[in-house]
Amino acid sequence: MASTHGAEVLVASNRGPVSYELLEDGSLRARRGGGGLVSGLSAIGPEAGAVWVCAALGDADREAARRFEGGRRLPSDATGGQQVRMLDIDAAVFADAYNGIANSVLWFVHHMLYQTPLEPVFDAEFRRQWASYEAYNLAFAEALAEEAAEGAAVVVQDYHLTLVPGMLRDFRPDVRIGHFSHTPWAPVDYFRMLPDDIAEQVLRGMLGADRLGFLTRRWADAFTGCCDALVDGLGGTRVGVHGLGADAEFLRERAHRADVDERMAALREEIGTAPDGAPRRTVVRVDRTELSKNIVRGLLAYEQLLEDRPEWRERVTHLAFAYPSRQDLAVYRDYTAEVQRVAQEINDRFGTPGWTPVVLHVRDDFARSLAAYRLADVALVNPIRDGMNLVAKEVPVVSDAGCALVLSREAGAYAELGEDAVVVNPYDVTGTARALHEALTMPAHERAERSKRLAAAATALPPAQWFLDQLTELNGRPD
Ligand code: F6P
Repeated sequence: MASTHGAEVLVASNRGPVSYELLEDGSLRARRGGGGLVSGLSAIGPEAGAVWVCAALGDADREAARRFEGGRRLPSDATGGQQVRMLDIDAAVFADAYNGIANSVLWFVHHMLYQTPLEPVFDAEFRRQWASYEAYNLAFAEALAEEAAEGAAVVVQDYHLTLVPGMLRDFRPDVRIGHFSHTPWAPVDYFRMLPDDIAEQVLRGMLGADRLGFLTRRWADAFTGCCDALVDGLGGTRVGVHGLGADAEFLRERAHRADVDERMAALREEIGTAPDGAPRRTVVRVDRTELSKNIVRGLLAYEQLLEDRPEWRERVTHLAFAYPSRQDLAVYRDYTAEVQRVAQEINDRFGTPGWTPVVLHVRDDFARSLAAYRLADVALVNPIRDGMNLVAKEVPVVSDAGCALVLSREAGAYAELGEDAVVVNPYDVTGTARALHEALTMPAHERAERSKRLAAAATALPPAQWFLDQLTELNGRPD
């Protein structure tokens, strides 16, 4: 199947670097995606001829895939010069694979999100959706097999595509296959909740790779533990750790553009000043509204702070940005509603005519996020479980005066930032309230020093280097 003109480097991920919107006049508008993977891949530059294979996520993407060479290449002006192949996978198959399996089963397993007295239930409907997950993985494996040059390096991303390495290995024994997990990996006792044959299929699919990458040693060890217990170990597959860092250069430049300044002014209005005229302190959180982010307990901890320490009333504002994520799933929509309800409850209970204790924004606005980062006195990052959490890394890099970081020990970022953060057990609301007080009262010089060290640790492995390191390792150095 190898093409003589095939690509030497390929990336595969569910979400690609660009997505489309269908305008009323029937034209398509492209929106380039952000995030670590997009900037990481751009490091190798369009001249390297890398190909990025991704799925069409919605109707407009599917339309684009059909219009532009049947999805074989999207117009390069929309992709920043990168070669992108967008797979027009049947909408129902995609929905089963993405919403049904990837987000409702594998995400739940790795983040340990089930309320186990009632869920999960692996029934006939699950088996039907699993068949779609297999078909969706097969579509990727076939496209990669077709695009790859002899001996190419293929780097597959995330839990959506766990079966791809094994499938691709069968099609193309000549290529070098890497897989990178951006999520945690579940400990074996939790992972084996999956039906035995499915658990085995996932592990064997991943083990089709030459090398597997994880964000921290903890997740890598959990994967190895699953393989030792369930499939006789790793075989010849190597496992490595690459702690994706923040892109300091990009963030600092982007955070000082005019649109960010405008939003800082607007946020300052919303925050207001304390009755004595002093600027109010800020506790900032920015998340996609995912069930693992623990936004509700974060709000409850802030409420507890206001309750236990009345001296903070009127003197602090919590900027909580909870941006929509996976709104096709009812459980995500319900969670968003709960976040809004609890924020409102706190404002009703403690708010005064001149003070809104929680300023909650739910409309995604990157410039406003950066503005909040710059204003942050305290960053609150308290997920119940998180692969890395880049917000924890970004705020210290961007904050103007240095910020104190309240960080969950269950975030991957804890491995690199734990020493200079105020560390919390994410389930302990009282403990988190205490940590917020400690962070708010941290002496300015200590806060600045810690923030500087946090920023250094956060930027140790920028996205471009993160990606290149994986390619180098895939090209042969044993771990
Ligand atoms: O943050 C973890 C992660 O798995 C990323 O690697 C990935 O980009 C994202 O979540 C997937 O989210 P979505 O469902 O919005 O594409």
